[in-house]
Amino acid sequence: MSEPLDLAAFPPSFAWGTATSAYQIEGAVAEDGRAPSIWDTFSRVPGAIDNGDHGDTACDHYHRWPEDIALMKGLGTDSYRLSVAWPRVVPGGDGPVNEAGLDFYDRLVDGLLDAGITPSVTLYHWDLPQALQDRGGWTVRETAEHLAAYAGIVAERLGDRVTRWATLNEPLCSAWIGHLEGRMAPGLTDLTAAVRASYHLLLGHGLATAAVRAAAPGARVGLVTNHSTVAPASTRPEDVAAAARMDGHTNRWWLDPVFGRGFPADMRELYGVELPERQGDMEAVAAPLDWHGLNYYFPVTVADDPTGPVPYAREVRLPGVPRTGMDWQIDAGGLEAFLLRLTEDYGARRLYVTENGSAFPDTTGPDGEVHDPERTRYLEEHLAACARALRKGVPLAGYYAWSLLDNFEWAYGYDKRFGLVHVDYATQRRTVKTSGRRYAEIVAAHRALHAR
Ligand code: IFM
Repeated sequence: MSEPLDLAAFPPSFAWGTATSAYQIEGAVAEDGRAPSIWDTFSRVPGAIDNGDHGDTACDHYHRWPEDIALMKGLGTDSYRLSVAWPRVVPGGDGPVNEAGLDFYDRLVDGLLDAGITPSVTLYHWDLPQALQDRGGWTVRETAEHLAAYAGIVAERLGDRVTRWATLNEPLCSAWIGHLEGRMAPGLTDLTAAVRASYHLLLGHGLATAAVRAAAPGARVGLVTNHSTVAPASTRPEDVAAAARMDGHTNRWWLDPVFGRGFPADMRELYGVELPERQGDMEAVAAPLDWHGLNYYFPVTVADDPTGPVPYAREVRLPGVPRTGMDWQIDAGGLEAFLLRLTEDYGARRLYVTENGSAFPDTTGPDGEVHDPERTRYLEEHLAACARALRKGVPLAGYYAWSLLDNFEWAYGYDKRFGLVHVDYATQRRTVKTSGRRYAEIVAAHRALHAR
């Protein structure tokens, strides 16, 4: 049984939202001037994606966005986190702007505002224009500069209506999973490339922050990073050291530079890769932000793995601990702990949970309803963790469930379903799951509490 939700802990202005990203839902990959991204390319590599899936059609959101806004309205959510596809707006990565691409986001933003839903826009959620990958992608500095130019273009066009901007989503995945583990686009397995990519992603974040602020003076800019709490599998000093390395790789490498501490020395030494530093870069990376977004899904427990890949720590499966359909350990306490760490250790002054959710196999009942008790429990437990964090003084301003819709789950294709709304990909029929109904109930109850 989940603990009762302490709704009074959530402030009246708390943002209740859902999140998606462009390549995972839009489809229409060759329409209105969009050019290929690294994910269009990667999804054609034999064996890269389960079932040979790709994002060509996805949820067809490019055409069905009015229906999707109606779904958000039906859930009662008041905010929506979306991403803009760089290859729709600047198809070559730099150079000519594709007005038709900007027009799409114009319509979407207007539609959201008409429905009373505040857009929160992420500029880069992994869909790098392939033309830039052909010139070195994130391993070269120019890509960071092109990100800033593209960010300025989007902010100039939408900045009169959009105030909340994120530069990047989960740079860890772009750098480590895309360039070191090879399980995401561009599919490299090269530590030097990965470390250079991590540097240029964070530099791109810093330069894009300045570009958005210059183009849209009222902009509130933040960064979205994904984290896990890390525990050692035992008290053996080797395992404790492995946990510190994993924490460095997953958490400190990304947060320390952004919060003004520079890249952690122990990890620089561990990677042994020279950073392409130039004067002024670290000041750009550490530019004070208006908010920070935490994507939290699971904690990890690790043991020393001296012959394994960097960071020489392997995940240990704890017996009897529940896991999601992604095989991710479930522990809402990790969300509370990480929110506290961001607040107390890093000094974050405004936080959002920009993603949190779970994949489970759903079943459609004879009544046509999609029943997902495990996802519902996951949602309730993680909202309870948010409430506990709020009670302890965490400046949490909103929560975005991942995801509004079932969608293209990257290398896992369409089999892993994270949506509060089920998508039948053959018909594009959307059905709100029982977890979606539960979320709607919670949002309505919170609103009622403060309407009194
Ligand atoms: O689907 C992804 C999303 O694109 C980024 N954060 C994690 C989600 C679930 O894996």
